[in-house]
Amino acid sequence: MSTPVLTAVAWPYANGPRHIGHVSGFGVPSDVFSRYQRMAGNRVLMVSGTDEHGTPITVQADKEGLTPQQTADKYTRQIGSDLQGLGLSYDLFTRTTTGNHAEVTQQIFLALHRNGYVVPKTTTGAISPSTGRTLPDRYIEGTCPICGYDGARGDQCDNCGNQLDPTDLINPRSRINGETPKFVETEHLFLDLPAFTETLGKWLSTRTDWRPNVLKFTKNLVDDMRPRPITRDLDWGVKVPLDGWRDQPLKRFYVWFDAVIGYFSASVEWARRSGDADAWQQWWTNPDARGYYFMGKDNITFHAQIWPALLLGHNGAGDRGGEIGKYGTLNLPDEIVSSEFLTMSGSKFSTSRGTVIYVHDFLREFGPDSLRYFISVAGPETQDTDFTWDEFVRRTNFELANEWGNLVNRSISMAHKNNGAIPAPTKPAPADEELKAVSRRAFETVGGHLSRSRFKLAATEAMRVVSAANRYLSDQEPWKLKDDPERRDAVLHTALQVVSDANTLLTPFLPHAAQKVHEALGGTGVWAAQPELKDVEDLDIPGRVNPILTGNYAGEQARWESTPVEVGRPLAKPTPLFAKLDPKLGETGPEWAPIERAE
Ligand code: MF3
Ligand code: ZN
Repeated sequence: MSTPVLTAVAWPYANGPRHIGHVSGFGVPSDVFSRYQRMAGNRVLMVSGTDEHGTPITVQADKEGLTPQQTADKYTRQIGSDLQGLGLSYDLFTRTTTGNHAEVTQQIFLALHRNGYVVPKTTTGAISPSTGRTLPDRYIEGTCPICGYDGARGDQCDNCGNQLDPTDLINPRSRINGETPKFVETEHLFLDLPAFTETLGKWLSTRTDWRPNVLKFTKNLVDDMRPRPITRDLDWGVKVPLDGWRDQPLKRFYVWFDAVIGYFSASVEWARRSGDADAWQQWWTNPDARGYYFMGKDNITFHAQIWPALLLGHNGAGDRGGEIGKYGTLNLPDEIVSSEFLTMSGSKFSTSRGTVIYVHDFLREFGPDSLRYFISVAGPETQDTDFTWDEFVRRTNFELANEWGNLVNRSISMAHKNNGAIPAPTKPAPADEELKAVSRRAFETVGGHLSRSRFKLAATEAMRVVSAANRYLSDQEPWKLKDDPERRDAVLHTALQVVSDANTLLTPFLPHAAQKVHEALGGTGVWAAQPELKDVEDLDIPGRVNPILTGNYAGEQARWESTPVEVGRPLAKPTPLFAKLDPKLGETGPEWAPIERAE
């Protein structure tokens, strides 16, 4: 049965190029998952885009002397190219400054407002005493009142994960210039979270199968729900569609309010671009659809609490009831798949601290698949994990080059040399069947792990097939079977069948290499499809051009099953699949990201 699967991927801020910490959280896991789901025959809609509003963008714009729009334009292009280079197969990667996104955000807001889940309140906001400008929450730093961590920000504590207001912080100070912020009276709209205590609590209590790290974060989420402001004093963001608000130059929606709505608005944009403007309904109003959300752990509360509350409010299904909103009863997330942090020498990857490895540098030197593999097999799936060059070199050399690359290379080379084509299994032996059974069984095991986002286990199980095939070749020694060509043919046939199976099992992790192996086995056409980056006209703002990622994934051949290799299909001499890295790289790092040695 084919299930509609929504893969909702966290939206990166358009304030700089992506580093490998970012893509290990949201990027690679969501793509491995989506590729598997498509191969398994499900209808995947994978959406995201750049998160372009709010202070993360205005602060970067000020730093570079650009307008916020120029900043967003510059980085949406760079980020699009980073993600495209990694082969992340978005159906639509768009941005939050489209006309469609503003419209959908406003409609969701109006439904919440009509149902009474939005309340105005006069509160105290922070400004910078030296400039008079609003001091964004995340640029205020101080001590967390809940856990006592000293580096907590005004919007959230990264140590305990709780959302905060700047006025909660003990000893607040500006991260921009260290001054003590001044708190002034200002009117804002609040999402009435307490009005979701029952309904959200009930929904959360049914989420028992989430990853333990996510459950830990969400367990006490409804114990203390306070109204959350969804507007800011800022001139950059989606406008508030209410009389008295619409024309105020300094009132906009809070960036997190519009960003989470992006999952839905991007689905609507995808549908509008597909020629069937209602096509998004399959994933959003169909009760059989499944929605999986991928992100780093600092995003959990927004996806497990705020976004479900917005959906319930729109649906008229919060504690106060209400009417079903414009878009119908929208599905809540089925799973929040959050990664922990990829660290470097124990600290979080951060642009400001200088421990940063950019995706584009990485791709230029090593290509996409070794990074995809590293993140899948050794990434921060359920706990913070240190990236080391040493480990990267080891995984690439021993697992990708020696184990997998070598299996492909020697199997195809021998068959090419002896037969020039895929030989027939003329003289089979029990060992052949045993090996083929190992790879056939792996489809279920590996597929089971992938459908539950257990990437480490999945990759490890897939590599077990590769090891079994290498052992088989060492045992059968086809290179010694000159006098028994029929037996040699059967051995090579078996090896090629298992290479083909292992290639299928590894396709979600290594889609670029998988295409090469497909061709090396004599296949033609697209095995694993790749996204393309292209410029399109905004659907609603005349003259605005947006770079988007999209792709034709329906046309790819990869299916999650063992496909019998075709006897007699011509083979060419294969080229190496993965280049071996100089082990010295593990000690020094590359020139563009040298390992800093403590003296
Ligand atoms: N831009 C946010 C970050 O980088 C993530 C936004 S995810 C979405 O942390 F839910 F808002 F889409
Ligand atoms: Zn804290």
